[in-house]
Amino acid sequence: MTAPVPAELAGSEVVLDVGPVAHGGHCVARWDGRVVFVRHSLPGEIVRVRVTEGTESSRFVRADAIEVLRPSPGRVEAPCPYAGPGLCGGCDWQHATPATQRELLGAVVAEQLARLAGIEREVVVEAVAPEDLGWRTRLGWTVDAQGRPGLHRHRSHDVLPVDRCLIAAPDLPDAHTRTWSAGHVDVAVSSLGDTVLLADGDAVQGRARVRERVHERDFRVSAAGFWQVHPAAARTLVDAVLSYGRPAPGERVADLYAGVGLFSAFLGDAVGADGSVLAVEGDPRAVKDARRNLHDLPQVRIEAGRVGDMLARLPITPLDLVVLDPPRAGARAAVVGQIAARAPSRVVYVACDPAALARDIATFTEQGYALSDLRAFALFPMTHHVECVALLTRG
Ligand SMILES: C[S@@+](CC[C@H](N)C(=O)[O-])C[C@H]1O[C@@H](n2cnc3c(N)ncnc32)[C@H](O)[C@@H]1O
Repeated sequence: MTAPVPAELAGSEVVLDVGPVAHGGHCVARWDGRVVFVRHSLPGEIVRVRVTEGTESSRFVRADAIEVLRPSPGRVEAPCPYAGPGLCGGCDWQHATPATQRELLGAVVAEQLARLAGIEREVVVEAVAPEDLGWRTRLGWTVDAQGRPGLHRHRSHDVLPVDRCLIAAPDLPDAHTRTWSAGHVDVAVSSLGDTVLLADGDAVQGRARVRERVHERDFRVSAAGFWQVHPAAARTLVDAVLSYGRPAPGERVADLYAGVGLFSAFLGDAVGADGSVLAVEGDPRAVKDARRNLHDLPQVRIEAGRVGDMLARLPITPLDLVVLDPPRAGARAAVVGQIAARAPSRVVYVACDPAALARDIATFTEQGYALSDLRAFALFPMTHHVECVALLTRG
């Protein structure tokens, strides 16, 4: 006998009271005891939702608010015509004021810290201008079957043709002047005004590397490699890292997941010729850029490779300060253990995912570190992404 197929719920409509925000750009509601993640809603609202994913036996279902019966005071008309149920998956909070968005992000970071690290703490997310539209200095378009640049629908490979993205920086090259045979078109504009348009990774306008300037220091960065996308992000994060890390002349520092050397440059200046900075980066393009960007700082040693492998291979010599800025998955327990083995008195953790940050903070706590302070920055307005900088100190 075959088991009965659970009834499909996608397409069902129901009116729900919306509860708190959850990580991922949605709020939590309950329907007959089942958890519903509702996009395009806000806490405290009453909305009619249409289920987008889930069956009678799903642990949770996903839904979209298609009608707002009682709006939140934080609700606004979404400025972008492509934001909304069934449309672009790029933005999550176009329907909320910037202040409401920051409250939601702060609640998410606080909830992740409480649930995954057992730390109760209020988190105030700081605004960074521009705090709503026109901030994204790097953007990847996916090309549809007709050759038109578009963006993915939420949780879909389907491409929604989009003729203008409102969060994109106004100076980005226009990818809509023609149709494309390439699958992806990436555009970037740098702080020094360099622009580039790449089709499947090849520069068809501008140079594949752009120049960025942060606090009077210039960096060469591959347009296809990593660089923070908000125009004020690099400066904001450098300042936060330096104020938490307090690197002093002669100190031994590590900058893990170093990219093109953004933090290493300022750490190298601060520790001076008598100090040392070990920069570890895995992307060969970024390593090449970092070697060039940091050539005037002989106290910075760049190691190419995965952080976990590199720390396991290098001798365990003491460090004063470790800065780490891992990708979304976080550093994970093995890397945290390798850092703790070097006994730095301060660890500054830059994180783009609050869940990974909270999990890694829990591991640092087991290794004798405590969360001393944390700042959070709204560096991705209209989306559920938030950047945190945490200071961990050894007890
Ligand atoms: C969030 S970016 C930070 C870069 C740099 N700190 C900055 O702010 O420009 C993370 C960097 O880690 C690198 N990366 C990812 N996984 C890695 C690993 N396992 N080992 C070394 N580097 C890694 C990526 O190539 C990327 O440059």
